[in-house]
Amino acid sequence: LELQMNLEEIEKGGYDHFMLKEIYEQPRAIKDTYRGRLLADQGLIRMAGIDLNMEKFLNANRIIIVACGTSWHAGLVAEYIFEDLARIPVEVEYASEFRYRNPVITDKDVLIAISQSGETADTLAAIKLAKEKGAFVFGVCNVVGSSIARETNAGAYTHAGPEIGVASTKAFTTQITVLTLMALKLAKAKGIFSESKYHEYLTELETIPSKVEKSLESNTLIEIISDVYKDSTNCLYLGRGYNFPVALEGALKLKEISYIHAEGYPAAEMKHGPIALIDEHMPVFVIATKKGHYEKVVSNIQEIKSRKGKIIAIVTEGDEQVKELADHVIEVPETLESLTPLLTTIPLQLLSYHIAVMRGCNVDQPRNLAKSVTVE
Ligand code: G6P
Repeated sequence: LELQMNLEEIEKGGYDHFMLKEIYEQPRAIKDTYRGRLLADQGLIRMAGIDLNMEKFLNANRIIIVACGTSWHAGLVAEYIFEDLARIPVEVEYASEFRYRNPVITDKDVLIAISQSGETADTLAAIKLAKEKGAFVFGVCNVVGSSIARETNAGAYTHAGPEIGVASTKAFTTQITVLTLMALKLAKAKGIFSESKYHEYLTELETIPSKVEKSLESNTLIEIISDVYKDSTNCLYLGRGYNFPVALEGALKLKEISYIHAEGYPAAEMKHGPIALIDEHMPVFVIATKKGHYEKVVSNIQEIKSRKGKIIAIVTEGDEQVKELADHVIEVPETLESLTPLLTTIPLQLLSYHIAVMRGCNVDQPRNLAKSVTVE
């Protein structure tokens, strides 16, 4: 037993939990994911799975993304990226719903299945169904040689390395990285991007690992904030555009490991329901980065403030306007709007982690949850 304990300590590499280790691994994991693929100086993205099947993607009527849990949230971010950059219509589906609702699928559809483990039963079943109907199926998996990786027609691995913590962290950001590379590559192939715009994206993507590193520097501040809100019973997470799925993921992370009820919402939808819940006991985590509907989010923040809600905002470095309104602000470096999810996710992961630790929860193995769900 002692030997086993020591082994686990070694595996945690000096961190108290796998989750924290994996959060801190993200700069490297993201770099590993684009290494050999993103060749910014040559103005090139090399991905064999796309190159060999370029016609399928370019002739696709639409892309259907299927996934579960955190991977589904990565799919939602991808919807924004693919539509915005590559101008391909995208639908994102929960694999469990898709497989049972008699979906319309043709051989002009491309289905992208996203799965960290590559073993999720519902996602695997959705792939089989799409293949039967003639769709081209592309996998974004982390575990090499997994069932989904084998079942798909082509794919791209995330190269995040093993993820042990049940709550997914580095798998999420590396999934977004792969999907961003794909969208950029397709945007280029379709002639949507000029050389200079393409170059701007590629070079900015290369700066993301160091910007994630910078975002991790808020850890001490986040611990202080976590201590203030650790006894909350409900929390709201708001974001718009690219950061709406990040709000969903932030809420999921908190629920999973701290057992605090949390809901993610598109910020503008707040007025259609959740606003009724806001009072001085309700912490509201708002993603309010400079790019992407900033002024609109600021007015959403004002609405929360006038109802005495507590505001914890994720803002762009140097922000002044939100600082005036919010109870706490956590800064992330500036980047292109479509890349902000890779940064705004980081403080929300750390918040859930610290709150869960402070509540004495089993962070790496939360109750009732499994790392991979191989039964439906
Ligand atoms: C489980 C895990 C989640 C994960 C989801 C989908 O619920 O606890 O962290 O997001 O399954 O898993 P997959 O391996 O398909 O990404």
